[in-house]
Amino acid sequence: MNTSAMIQELKTRLARHTAVTVLTGAGISADSGVPTFRGQDGLWNNYRPEELASPEAFDRDPRLVWEWYNWRRNLIRNCQPNPAHYALVDLERRGGTFRIITQNVDGLHTLAGSQRVSEIHGNIWKVRCTRCGRTAVNREVPIAILPHCSHCQGLLRPHIVWFGESLDPVDLQQSHDALRQCELLLIIGTSGVVYPAASFGSVAKEHGAFVAELNRDPTPHSDLVDMAIHGSAQDLVPQLLA
Ligand code: OAD
Repeated sequence: MNTSAMIQELKTRLARHTAVTVLTGAGISADSGVPTFRGQDGLWNNYRPEELASPEAFDRDPRLVWEWYNWRRNLIRNCQPNPAHYALVDLERRGGTFRIITQNVDGLHTLAGSQRVSEIHGNIWKVRCTRCGRTAVNREVPIAILPHCSHCQGLLRPHIVWFGESLDPVDLQQSHDALRQCELLLIIGTSGVVYPAASFGSVAKEHGAFVAELNRDPTPHSDLVDMAIHGSAQDLVPQLLA
């Protein structure tokens, strides 16, 4: 099937189905100027995740980790949602059961206006106290290094799920509910190598959903999903709603 035939089929399914779940990754924000992690120009080509995005890294050198997050906060604050984010807002407004599960921490889905969003890897604009566990929104750029909790003076860390850490159980439950309930799962702009999100396509499929992947490049899941469409998210996603 060629791309336009696949888009047409997805449009028909979207019109028919009342339970839709969308899993997004860094690729949906690439067209907004947020760097992806893997592939050409990916952040992990130049930085080592274990030195910047792990609890051990933060214990070892919290200044370095905060400097890296300041760099990313500065970059992301200048980024705006793109047509793919806005198309998902329109999709949600059609009604029915809907949820976006995103691995992105940039907050662009909610900035665009999406309501039912599970940010399973956290949010770059939130901080969490390493002592009392309180979370708070903090949009300072740059954040004063080292930041401390206004309540207990404990050291603040980014409210991000790092390598080796578990997802918040509420996010995990919401995600599994959405994957079990949906008739259609759209997987947009994720390389599909980080778990548990990498297993979400199979979970939805086991529960009877039609699973479609929209990605600029093939992924390890392209042959396992029901449909894989290649192209940029900002071109493809709005076409589904046109
Ligand atoms: P990756 O950087 O691993 O993958 C991005 C995917 O988007 C790749 O498959 C690209 O081919 C695709 N892509 C790039 N530009 C695109 C575009 N314009 N349109 C559509 N697709 C495009 O990002 P994630 O899969 O999100 O974790 O990575 C998962 C997790 O790994 C991240 O959440 C992050 C990272 O380490 C944490 O920060 C905890």
